[in-house]
Order: sequence, then C-alpha cells, then structure tokens
Amino acid sequence: MPYVVTENCIKCKYMDCVEVCPVDCFYEGANMLVIHPDECIDCGVCEPECPAEAIKPDTEPDLEKWMALNAEYAQVWPNVTVKRDPPADAKEWDGKPGKLETSFSPEPGQGD
Ligand code: SF4
Ligand code: F3S
Repeated sequence: MPYVVTENCIKCKYMDCVEVCPVDCFYEGANMLVIHPDECIDCGVCEPECPAEAIKPDTEPDLEKWMALNAEYAQVWPNVTVKRDPPADAKEWDGKPGKLETSFSPEPGQGD
C-alpha cells in the first residue's frame, strides 16, 4: 500500500519530499519525481511535506494510472535523496489541470 506521486508534481517538483523519506525511495524525472512502490514502507511522512499536495496514499480512488507511472519510472529514473531548488516557475504550474498530457517528460532527472 505505497504512497504515489500524482499529476501536480509535474513542473512543480518542489523536492521537499526527498528529505524526509526514511528509505530514500524517490526517483527523479526531468520534471517530476516518483515513488518506488516496492521500496515505500507506507510511513506517510512525505504526504504533508509536499507544497503541491501531489503525494497520495494509493488507497485513494482513481490513482491507477499514477500507480502504474510511479512503478514504471521508478525502475528507469535515478534515485534522489537531496533536495534542490524547484523550477523558477513552479508556482505558476501549481494546480494547472492536464499536466500529464501537456507537460510530462519521460526523460530522467539528474539524481543525486
Ligand atoms: Fe518514503 Fe514514507 Fe513517503 Fe513512502 S510514505 S515515499 S517511505 S516518506
Ligand atoms: Fe513533487 Fe511534491 Fe515532491 S511537488 S517533488 S512530490 S514535494
């Protein structure tokens, strides 16, 4: 029952989440992070740390596509445990609908 990073992380990528995870299970794409579902211990510590409210427990409804995306990209993106500055325009993207379709990038981020 892992936690899942969802749409509002895209282009916000605040990275507050990586600093609190006790098992370092965040993985970095070019403009969002994902959680490795097999590594997450479901502690819930990261959820309230995200300024974009992008982290959800997978017990919430309608998260199937995000669970699949987290599982897929956690296998190919680099691990990240150290917070860096968010994008300069992060606030402008916070809450924008349709970011998966318009702005998701499958490219890896830089990792630690
Ligand atoms: Fe890490 Fe806990 Fe968040 Fe899972 S719920 S990603 S273990 S901080
Ligand atoms: Fe994304 Fe929130 Fe972490 S915006 S990078 S899930 S703090």
